[in-house]
Amino acid sequence: MSVRRLAQKQPDSFDFTPENRAWAEREIAKYPPGRQASAVIPLLWRAQAQNDYWLPQKAIEKVARMLSMPDIRVLEIATFYSMFNLEPVGQHFIQLCGTTPCMLRGANALKDVLSRRVGEQRHVSADGKFAWLEVECLGACCNAPMVQINDDYYEDLTPENFNKLLDDLAAGRPVQKGSQIGRKSSEPEPGKADTLNDASLFDGSVVGTWKKRFVDARAAEKEAAEKAAAEKAAAAAAEKK
Ligand code: FES
Repeated sequence: MSVRRLAQKQPDSFDFTPENRAWAEREIAKYPPGRQASAVIPLLWRAQAQNDYWLPQKAIEKVARMLSMPDIRVLEIATFYSMFNLEPVGQHFIQLCGTTPCMLRGANALKDVLSRRVGEQRHVSADGKFAWLEVECLGACCNAPMVQINDDYYEDLTPENFNKLLDDLAAGRPVQKGSQIGRKSSEPEPGKADTLNDASLFDGSVVGTWKKRFVDARAAEKEAAEKAAAEKAAAAAAEKK
């Protein structure tokens, strides 16, 4: 967990666009009187989206005023949740998942690409196009390794297709969201959709083998109990003689 501070260089002012202000007023109206503070996260999120994906101090204060909250309460929220960026993040903000499934599938090689092309984490590249941050699991482990860039996921990455993705983004070319190897959602890779073609899954043999060990264990227990009872009865009969 890193320390989260407001950017040193801040704009002088922030205001919602008329469209976003109307949206914010509709959000606030969803809550009963006295509960307007419940709209704080949606409003901060909208302010961030309007301001190139980062939250300046003036935006935090603006939201506080709109919700009749002390500035410090809104600041606490903005600094607590890592979804809020407190510094400029470039045109394309890359969140690289470094958690175990992605790490085992090559996230470290993607990290090398970012270090080489963009530089250190939390720094905007010289051309203003990129900044990156390593984050915990983003919930797309089936298609690991993956990154989130602004609002979209890019999955099944390799250093080669990731470099190409970054080239295309930098050049403003259209890019493919989601899997970079053409699979839909988290279906098997193209040509490998044979998981359910194994006949043993349906003829009962797999389940039968699994169940048989419990049947065998119960039979062995019964046999041992009967043997012990017979030995006990034989010993009692011998004593009577
Ligand atoms: S571990 Fe990377 S998305 Fe879950």
